[in-house]
Amino acid sequence: MKLSDKIIFGGDYNPEQWRETPEIWDEDMRLMRLARWNEATVGVFSFAELEPEEGVFDFSVTDAIFEKAEKNGVKIILSTPSGAMPRWMAEKYPEILRTLEDRRKAVYGRRENHCYTSPVYREKVAEIDRKLSERYGRHPALLAWHISNEFNGECHCPLCREAFCAFLEKKYGTIDRLNAEWWTRFWSHRANSFSEIEPPSSIGETCVHGLTLDWKRFVTAQTADFARVEIEAVRAFSDRPVTTNLMGFYTGLDYRELSRPFDFVSWDNYPDWGKPEGDEGTAAWIALTHDLMRSMKRENFLLMESTPSHTNWKDINKLYRPGMMRLASLQALAHGSESVQYFQWRKSRGSSEKMHGAVVDHYGREDTRVFSEVAALGEELERLSPLVGSTLRPRVAMIYDWDNVWALQDLQGMQKKNKQVASTLLRQYLPFWRAGISCDIIGRRESFEGYSLLVAPMTYLCEEETAKRLAGFVREGGTLVATYTLAQTNENDLCHLGGFPGAGLCEVFGLRAEELDTLYPEERVEISALGGSYRAKDYCEVLKPHADTEILGEYRGEFYAGTPCLTAHAYGKGKAYYIAFRDADGAFSEAFYRRLMRELSLESPLPEIPDGVSVQVRENEKGEKFFFLLNFSRKEKRLSLGEGFTLLRTGEPLAEAVLPPYGAEVLRK
Ligand code: GAL
Repeated sequence: MKLSDKIIFGGDYNPEQWRETPEIWDEDMRLMRLARWNEATVGVFSFAELEPEEGVFDFSVTDAIFEKAEKNGVKIILSTPSGAMPRWMAEKYPEILRTLEDRRKAVYGRRENHCYTSPVYREKVAEIDRKLSERYGRHPALLAWHISNEFNGECHCPLCREAFCAFLEKKYGTIDRLNAEWWTRFWSHRANSFSEIEPPSSIGETCVHGLTLDWKRFVTAQTADFARVEIEAVRAFSDRPVTTNLMGFYTGLDYRELSRPFDFVSWDNYPDWGKPEGDEGTAAWIALTHDLMRSMKRENFLLMESTPSHTNWKDINKLYRPGMMRLASLQALAHGSESVQYFQWRKSRGSSEKMHGAVVDHYGREDTRVFSEVAALGEELERLSPLVGSTLRPRVAMIYDWDNVWALQDLQGMQKKNKQVASTLLRQYLPFWRAGISCDIIGRRESFEGYSLLVAPMTYLCEEETAKRLAGFVREGGTLVATYTLAQTNENDLCHLGGFPGAGLCEVFGLRAEELDTLYPEERVEISALGGSYRAKDYCEVLKPHADTEILGEYRGEFYAGTPCLTAHAYGKGKAYYIAFRDADGAFSEAFYRRLMRELSLESPLPEIPDGVSVQVRENEKGEKFFFLLNFSRKEKRLSLGEGFTLLRTGEPLAEAVLPPYGAEVLRK
């Protein structure tokens, strides 16, 4: 993925809000030059500006901005306007308004408010998209297409229901097959035909888990199908690449599926920096999210949105402290972003986002703290351009799947509201992040090739085919680590028979997980493992190991005291580890994975990485390496580097890096 020779620096720009005062557009251009912006994302939510009445089109603002942007060296990422429908359209074609899950019909308002099945909306959107493509699709200033905005939500209207029934018919072929996979003899929920199926609802069905899971899959498929209509329309006259902005771990859509029709991935990042307890936790979570986004296509991505100073939609909207915006921006680059982009260029004057952070404040001039920090970063990014095209090459992959999260969310059992798949993933990820060892976050159905270590946290949903591939990975010499709840059900959430982990994985791990104990939130169970004492919380599985399974840890409490909680099993040329409990505080995970890193010769990029500092390495095809040193702590940190390092922004050699609080540097080697 290479869109530009420069690091893309820009963000959301809404000149249509200043239609009556075009002198502001000229001031924008002057300020963009000062800030070294080389990109502007234009047109997000501009449907009513482009088509103020049905069939009446007005491209005057976009025309003017393309012209001005080109003159000022600013490239444009042009958004399609489908993220918010015009009022007239809702009025005339009420079918495009969403129906909520409790079957109430929405009235006009807000954004991402459309039915993604509605043929009328698809037609209207395709029409405006084609017109944009025809007019700007080959414009020299056009860099890429931005389809809609943060696709999200569900619609439960009759059109969606019909499409859902067709989706099920295509998937299962016969209604008997659906009944079998959904286990509908339970509570007499048998269906006689596909057309009888009603999507889940709080006033209807929530208990047939095959149904709730397929519904979520359908919502993703239908959203992707809507996106395909848009992609096809913008491609009518244009060969520029296409993306849509994602929201990290948002659980409403399977992003891996949604991102398939797009050329590259981009995402919007709004972390809670500045928490009283410090920023390390936030930094690790965001690092993981960047890795998830990069792994989606195993390619670099764009940081499509971030705030230069603060948000306005959270409960607490704290200002980013000086340096934090730069640090967070470099963190995105460290994990494979090719851009630093903001929401937003200029604060809007009215409505719900008027107090959201922006590069240009209501004050309107450049002598503000935020503008100065942005302009300084713009200047620095120009010096960091040798980074472009370099990327990360992880040997470690962790598995994360949206349908697995959905299945566990709906699962009645365990702690009902505390399945926490993503934070369990984070628990496994943290030791690697602290050691500066990069990870990919992949889907269980994706290729495992090229990885020496695969971690499968709470991989509850695991079909035969995945189980076979996991077995194959270990047999061929890979190391696999899995945790409690592994392979309990197939892809339709039907339990595997014959013992967990199912589908043949008992053989790979050399054990059977016989029972899963759920604890009250405040309870802890002592364990001893790897020569140390640790604590489990929430979940403890009771294991029955095979005779040739190595016991590396045991429970010290409860009726299962003395039984194994950590095992290793040689299988083929590789090894499979099983962690049967939830680590209470991270101490166990740190010790376990550090040991594994040594065993597998997974080395930290620097001999010593102080607490609170993250080190990530990008590498280009020439074998040049770029080391990112990121200090998320509120204390100065020193790192000794050894030979051959230069500071990328100045070219000067460096043997020791001194990072002030929230300081960061990029080095070349
Ligand atoms: C994003 C959205 C932007 C803006 C921003 C505010 O989710 O795409 O349009 O609303 O949040 O933080």
